[in-house]
Amino acid sequence: MALQRDSRIFIIGCGISAIGAAQKLLKHGFCNVHIIEATGKSGGRIRTGRLGDNIVEIGANWIHGPSKENPVFRLACDYQLLDKESMSEENQAVDIGGHPLFVPNWFTSSGRKLGPEVMGPALEFFMKILERSQQFYDSGGEPMPSVGKFVKSEAKRLAPEEWKEDQANINIRMAMINTLLKLECCVSGTHTLDEVGLGAFGMYKTLPGLDCTFPGGYEGLIDNMMKELPKGIVSYNKQVKCIHWNNTKDEPDTTATSGPVKIECVDGKTFAADHVIVTVSLGYLKKHKDTFLSPSLPLNKLHSIQRMGFGTNNKIFLEFEQPFWDEDCELIYLVWEDDTDLCDVVSDIKTSWIRKLTGFTVLKPTERFGHVLCGWIAGHESEYMETLSELEVLHSVTQVLRKFTGNPTIAPRKLLRSQWFHDPYSCGSYTYVAKGCSGYDIDNLAEPLPPNGSNSKPLQVLFAGEATHRSFFSTVHGALMAGWREAERLVSHYAPASTISSKL
Ligand SMILES: Cc1cc2nc3c(=O)[nH]c(=O)nc-3n(C[C@H](O)[C@H](O)[C@H](O)COP(=O)(O)OP(=O)(O)OC[C@H]3O[C@@H](n4cnc5c(N)ncnc54)[C@H](O)[C@@H]3O)c2cc1C
Ligand SMILES: *[C@@H]1O[C@H](CO)[C@@H](O)[C@H](O)[C@H]1NC(C)=O
Ligand SMILES: *[C@@H]1O[C@H](CO)[C@@H](O)[C@H](O)[C@H]1NC(C)=O
Repeated sequence: MALQRDSRIFIIGCGISAIGAAQKLLKHGFCNVHIIEATGKSGGRIRTGRLGDNIVEIGANWIHGPSKENPVFRLACDYQLLDKESMSEENQAVDIGGHPLFVPNWFTSSGRKLGPEVMGPALEFFMKILERSQQFYDSGGEPMPSVGKFVKSEAKRLAPEEWKEDQANINIRMAMINTLLKLECCVSGTHTLDEVGLGAFGMYKTLPGLDCTFPGGYEGLIDNMMKELPKGIVSYNKQVKCIHWNNTKDEPDTTATSGPVKIECVDGKTFAADHVIVTVSLGYLKKHKDTFLSPSLPLNKLHSIQRMGFGTNNKIFLEFEQPFWDEDCELIYLVWEDDTDLCDVVSDIKTSWIRKLTGFTVLKPTERFGHVLCGWIAGHESEYMETLSELEVLHSVTQVLRKFTGNPTIAPRKLLRSQWFHDPYSCGSYTYVAKGCSGYDIDNLAEPLPPNGSNSKPLQVLFAGEATHRSFFSTVHGALMAGWREAERLVSHYAPASTISSKL
């Protein structure tokens, strides 16, 4: 049997899942570990950009649930990347159940700015229904196939009773619920909540802690983690084309050129490996599922890759000379007053894609950022937005802002937007559990090859990445924990029986 420290392990992709896996393997004595990355840099969907003098997050922005249980929080603390407040015990103890209570401002399509007395009840009403839609995972069964169907029908059923004393505001509140549906599309990274499975919605778990950001940029985390890896461990600008596994040619393990797995890159280069950990996004797997592995993926894995959801959520950053929002405002909602029939997709994407833009978060603190907003837009409308020029996007956003503020001279002075759908190595933003999917689909994704019961060499191809974590999919900590999980799978595979039993 080959010695563990010599087995050739290749990790595909250099996002946080891969970096975490490499760190863990090296720590356990593996010394033949390599990472192959298609782009010129590490970090993947953690990407910090610039808007004028400001740093802005093109990809991940928050540590969701920053508390002791969250390994991303622990690392960020160790590297001293967070401010005092984010690290305080007080902050860690806040349990917001995944929905931070941002101080809101509401603007409507007739140029009105509405107050909490009109809009607050709509927000509360919606959140209650959304919370109920998370309960079917534990209780089992689903009265409807999708979160969208459930939330919309419950809202329609309950609203007349809820606001019967307040008829005048029903229409504007229903319009507000539309805005909240679009916001949830951003949170889930989906085109419409009608595609998000109801039964598995509660499978996503939140951790305590008030979501926090990295004052110096999320990429600081990647930089610090990379410094702990040996120089030269990553081959950049190398796209893997195909993983040839189940190589049955019975050559001895010691030859440098052969192994159970051969990795073929787009530039023609090949690498022989004993184990490959795949960390590419679910979006990339969906797009390349028929050619990325040879022999092709087993049917159960293929089906789960097809069925699971991977959608688009994009950001549009805008910088202003002067704010048009309140000083304490953290989240601006855009409410289309004619949007009252509860629908989270637009009818004509080309002419009306901008109506999917749900609103903006305000970048804080103002002393650091000046007046910068981050707009949120999900779905096919967002994918269409990516195809427009920056100027066209700026034009549309400016028109909307003028309409909603009633101020015909408002003009953002800078714009930057993300384009995650057309990014050839992400192919979208993040994973959601689609209609008809369950935890078994995620287990299928995470299942190594060859499958159980095969006579071939075990653990040839392993799967990590955000999409393979059952309760933390779509997050940075989920990606990191999935990378650790696959590294540990290899560690315990090689661990002599004696060390295992002494641990038990
Ligand atoms: C807009 C947006 C906002 C987000 N906000 C948050 C947030 O606030 N908080 C949070 O926790 N999470 C957030 N996320 C999710 C988070 O960014 C991801 O879950 C996490 O970064 C995924 O890490 P990963 O290692 O699994 O995958 P990735 O970071 O995608 O890494 C995969 C790597 O594989 C490379 N690759 C792909 N194909 C190949 C190939 N053929 N050959 C070689 N290399 C290849 C890619 O270039 C990439 O570097 C957000 C994501 C997006 C897009
Ligand atoms: C892997 O190789 C073995 C032995 O040659 C063969 O029986 C098996 O069908 C192969 N598996 C796949 C998925 O091709
Ligand atoms: C394969 O075996 C592992 C380890 O025994 C187990 O955890 C896993 O559930 C099995 N998978 C399937 C599909 O049987």
